[in-house]
Amino acid sequence: MSKKGEIVLSGVRPTGQLHLGNYFGALRNYVKMQEEYNCYFFIADLHSLTTHPDTRELREHILSVTSYYLASGLDPDKCVLYCQSDLPQTTELYLYLNMLAYKGELEKTTTFKDKIKQHPENVNAGLLTYPVLMASDILIHRAHYVPVGKDQEQHLEMTRTFGNRFNHRYGEVFPEPKAFNYGAQLLKVPSLDGAGKMSKSENQYATIYLSDDDDLIRKKVMKAKTDSGPTEPNSEKPDYIVNIFDMMKLVSDPSAIEKYEADFNACTIRYGDLKKQLAEDMVRFISPIREKAKAIREDERALSIILKVGAQKAAENAEKTMQMVRQAMGLKYF
Ligand code: TRP
Repeated sequence: MSKKGEIVLSGVRPTGQLHLGNYFGALRNYVKMQEEYNCYFFIADLHSLTTHPDTRELREHILSVTSYYLASGLDPDKCVLYCQSDLPQTTELYLYLNMLAYKGELEKTTTFKDKIKQHPENVNAGLLTYPVLMASDILIHRAHYVPVGKDQEQHLEMTRTFGNRFNHRYGEVFPEPKAFNYGAQLLKVPSLDGAGKMSKSENQYATIYLSDDDDLIRKKVMKAKTDSGPTEPNSEKPDYIVNIFDMMKLVSDPSAIEKYEADFNACTIRYGDLKKQLAEDMVRFISPIREKAKAIREDERALSIILKVGAQKAAENAEKTMQMVRQAMGLKYF
């Protein structure tokens, strides 16, 4: 398929294991996007330093995330896959954009306010300028579309602000990046405890990681919250039961879902059976990805080549942008 000219870009912080929410909310879409757009996907290791200064496990996390990206179907021949710190152009742009970002607007950022509450002992300048670094990631490739979740929309809005500010002051270099995802609504994968969505760090038992082994997946699913079942035919499902059905929609056969829907409406549903079905379907879905990622992770040489080649391809485009930036800013003296 020939690609549209637009550029898609997204990044992920290597701060924890990838989970089912990452897969259905992001990864699965990236795999489709790489067929249609010029895609850049990267591991945001520099961003992780704002909250995780300990670098001992960083390398392992970067290699692990890359393995899962590849195992999920990202193809280094179809997209550019790289590690943020391998692209120094990003940090140069970050410096220039920092002069266009005001302290007041950075302090108002929701993620900043949340993070300083969580870690009052580490309110560093990198945390304050997190959105500037993210804007640099996006603008360095002059990206048009950024597939991100709701929690990142404010950062994207700030990226547009910084890009426009640059364009007005120094001349047109950056297109306005837009949020972008397939489907009308972003897919949220619910947490198994019936509260919120799956997340990397909160309540480990409510989140299914792509690295979970078969028994752990079964255990987690079987622990999902239920009750003694409906007492009136065709009653409304409580949230946590809706969640279980929503999870089935991701991995189970439609006929199985129909059967349990009918059982629910007839008040004959056995939640134990429902969860057993979901657990087996989940295992069937995740285990091939996990095993593939394991095999990919073992070939460290191949992995490092993929990331190096990715960084080279990313640098080609990034250097073009930086030449435009330096030219527009009048930083080319000779
Ligand atoms: N801030 C994003 C997150 O926490 C990660 C990220 C960094 C990113 N740079 C980006 C996402 C650029 C999209 C585009 O998930």
